Amino acid sequence: MKRLEDKVCIITGAALGIGRACAMRMAQEGARIAIFDVLDDAGATLADELRVLGADAGYWHVDVSREADVARAIDAVAARFGAVHVLVNNAGIAGASKPTHELTEAEWDRVQAVNVKGVFFCTKHAIPHLRRAGRASIVNLSSIYGLVGAPDVPPYHAAKGAVRLMSKTDALLYAADGIRVNSVHPGYIRTPMVEHHLRESGATDLEAAIVEVGRLHPLGHMGEADDIAWGVVYLASDEAKFVTGAELVIDGGYTA
Ligand code: NAI
Repeated sequence: MKRLEDKVCIITGAALGIGRACAMRMAQEGARIAIFDVLDDAGATLADELRVLGADAGYWHVDVSREADVARAIDAVAARFGAVHVLVNNAGIAGASKPTHELTEAEWDRVQAVNVKGVFFCTKHAIPHLRRAGRASIVNLSSIYGLVGAPDVPPYHAAKGAVRLMSKTDALLYAADGIRVNSVHPGYIRTPMVEHHLRESGATDLEAAIVEVGRLHPLGHMGEADDIAWGVVYLASDEAKFVTGAELVIDGGYTA
């Protein structure tokens, strides 16, 4: 028996990076995968790859900051697969790398819309299905920057702190329904988001910047998307059946 045998798992932002690694690992563990993203080519290609590997998978175009999109897609997933057992709230954006006094309201709002409201909308509309499923799991991607500060991207840090406490509140609200809710706190993971952020922050030699940022972690390097995917598999699975309201820190020792 695989660890996620026949569980229907929605993963937001699954077309690239950490979400994509989660989709691959969860499919290997027997899950049926619903990919939510705004990158249609990458999302549809991933669904094809998962089907070639023998997994049941589908792609839905969903901007998580739009409640109507989210509601429609979650109902479509439930209709297609017959249930929803796991929601991985992974979609996120870093936003502009600027100090607080230079940020515009629009820049602030966009980060909150995707990283905070997106988690709210997906959770809100998944709850009725997760309740019906029983023994369900929500995994929210926060960050080391939901635990400690850093002198860059203020709206991102605010959002990741919010996600951390939304996870604890929802863990308490829905424990009696058999829905576990936990947050994951990655250190720097080499993904398109991090590469884009380093370039935006002025890095001219990307490989050198990756090494330099990697050194901020006591283990001496950045993590890989798979390092996070294994944690998400654990929290989604029944191996974590007594784990709720917890913070799983996967950061190479950054916050130790
Ligand atoms: P990424 O930028 O490489 O991938 C994010 C995915 O989310 C993309 O496929 C993108 O199209 C999708 N997405 C963006 N906005 C969306 C929206 N409005 N609706 C639906 N999908 C949307 O990012 P990465 O690095 O894989 O990050 C995944 C999550 O992990 C994010 O929540 C991020 O904040 C968090 N995280 C990442 C860390 C890192 O070092 N890469 C560290 C800590 C947390």
